[in-house]
Amino acid sequence: MTTDETAARNDSAAGKGAPLAFDTSVAHQARMYDYILGGKDNYAADRAAAEAWVKTDPDAAFSAKENRRFLGRAVRYLAEEAGIRQFLDIGTGIPTAGNTHEVAQAVAPDARVIYVDYDPIVLAHARTLLNSSEAGGTEYLDADLRDTDRILDRARQFLDFSRPVAVTLVAILHAIPDADDPRAIVGTLLDAVPPGSYLTVSHLGSDLLSKEKREGIEGLSGRVMQQRMTMRDREQVARFFAGTDLVEPGLVRVEQWRPEPGADGTVKSSMWGAVGCKR
Ligand SMILES: C[S@@+](CC[C@H](N)C(=O)[O-])C[C@H]1O[C@@H](n2cnc3c(N)ncnc32)[C@H](O)[C@@H]1O
Repeated sequence: MTTDETAARNDSAAGKGAPLAFDTSVAHQARMYDYILGGKDNYAADRAAAEAWVKTDPDAAFSAKENRRFLGRAVRYLAEEAGIRQFLDIGTGIPTAGNTHEVAQAVAPDARVIYVDYDPIVLAHARTLLNSSEAGGTEYLDADLRDTDRILDRARQFLDFSRPVAVTLVAILHAIPDADDPRAIVGTLLDAVPPGSYLTVSHLGSDLLSKEKREGIEGLSGRVMQQRMTMRDREQVARFFAGTDLVEPGLVRVEQWRPEPGADGTVKSSMWGAVGCKR
């Protein structure tokens, strides 16, 4: 399969439900992110694409690291302050420091987390994610975010949907093109969980990048990456939170969401992030 054929299969509505090919000759989002975070589960194509991304946007590594920190702070908030004990984490990524169940179970050992990703390399590392505390539990599902029926069926077996669930979609929705209606996908997930449940999203912001950087990323994601990136502006990202009340400080750059004291505010990320509570 050529790079273009592979990309077309994975990023169009026609490719819905088709498994992501394990193809080391093209870059994968999960492996590029792993490389930027300092991991070892990546190949030459991933490293080259990540380097090209950083050349286009010198703050890309900062954005990736801050995105991961945002995930950690959001999960800690959800477990500690919102009292959430059930997590549906879609777009898990290759396990690294501070996986969702580790952060949640450090606060609440009885927390249960079901992880979902469609990348075979994440599946290959799933054992690390199943390393749960005894009181809680973790589960892994190899599925595409667009296959909400399958995700919800499995999640209902593992979690109690009569109690609040935190749905986390961190750095994944920009891999879903408009043709696959990401708002409807988020809506279906939120409809399935009870009021008092939470939605956490981070997303590459088209309005947080200059025109040159946007064009550079668009060029890269069409050419060398298996997934195409769809950047969205603040208003488009805010629409994912319809039917929720945003937790303070609302929809902000990820590094501005409840930062740790003493965080350096000089570099700016290109990621929007927020947490909303379902009404
Ligand atoms: C950049 S990583 C983010 C990992 C983690 N959420 C974080 O923020 O640290 C994005 C993950 O989303 C996964 N992903 C992208 N599109 C997906 C889809 N349609 N269905 C399931 N997973 C998807 C990728 O395989 C990758 O592991």
